[in-house]
Amino acid sequence: MQKVIIDTDPGIDDSLALLVALNSPELDVIGITIVEGNVPTEIGVQNALKVLEEAGKPDIPVFEGASLPLKHEYISAQDTHGLDGLGESNISSPKISVSDLKASSAYEKLLSDNEDVWVLALGPLTNIALAMERTPKVWGNMSRLIIMGGAYQSNGNTSPVAEYNFWVDPDAAEYVLQNSPVVAEIVPLDVTRKILLTPNILSLMQRLNPDKTMFINKIIQFYFDFHWSQEHVLGAVINDPLVIIHALYPEYTSGISKYVTVVTEGKALGQSIVDIANFWKKEANAVILTEVDSLHVMAEIIARLLNLSSS
Ligand code: BDR
Ligand code: CA
Repeated sequence: MQKVIIDTDPGIDDSLALLVALNSPELDVIGITIVEGNVPTEIGVQNALKVLEEAGKPDIPVFEGASLPLKHEYISAQDTHGLDGLGESNISSPKISVSDLKASSAYEKLLSDNEDVWVLALGPLTNIALAMERTPKVWGNMSRLIIMGGAYQSNGNTSPVAEYNFWVDPDAAEYVLQNSPVVAEIVPLDVTRKILLTPNILSLMQRLNPDKTMFINKIIQFYFDFHWSQEHVLGAVINDPLVIIHALYPEYTSGISKYVTVVTEGKALGQSIVDIANFWKKEANAVILTEVDSLHVMAEIIARLLNLSSS
């Protein structure tokens, strides 16, 4: 089984991504670290614990991480995910608890004790930047870093040019991209916008596995409403599960290997700049995804959410 650490700010689509990962027999989730983002960190911790209970995996450790971005003011996305981060769904409080270890110590421990670890980043990159800066050596044991963030040719979702994760902590995003010992795989809005969970798909899920759909149905309604009222999109763009499916099935996506940098000041705060024509003569530090086979990806997401075999 492939060892993975998931850094996340749950969040509705983060919770779906966690469920997809926890239901993937190929993956051994050795830790979940929580960062400020969609909701304040302490709420994100509770949500990760709720998802672990829902998935029947109460023993996977959850580590509380940063509560503020490195330099900029923190702005949550509770308008998108609900005050509780789970679509104001009143899911009951978890019985399991967060680990005593904080996220940056957890990275040090998990990455010294294990080799060939994939790190899957679903939120702002504060935890990862802090941990990389604190103990750079252990990051040699990370073999893949996959990041949901940024936009290539697509417009932003938080400003005309910026995607939320990079926008919340642009300094952390820039630090990680410039300091990661492996070439980062970036899953930007250009591809995640093609991953739509619609009411039709949800009703099919309900028929296929009503029990497993109950939790998803509770948390997704708020996201449907948000997408309809803000963007006139029928259904919800579920960004984060694509990271898990891309990790498992790189053949369902394609991308370009380029130098990527993140704007840390001014009007374009959080914008990802991809040096397509190599003006800056810098070595590629990322593969940024540009295409996705959304039908196959959605089928895998649904199959894993429902614990069905897809093929
Ligand atoms: C990203 O921002 C968050 O709201 C989502 O969870 C996703 O990680 C999309 O911009
Ligand atoms: Ca997220």
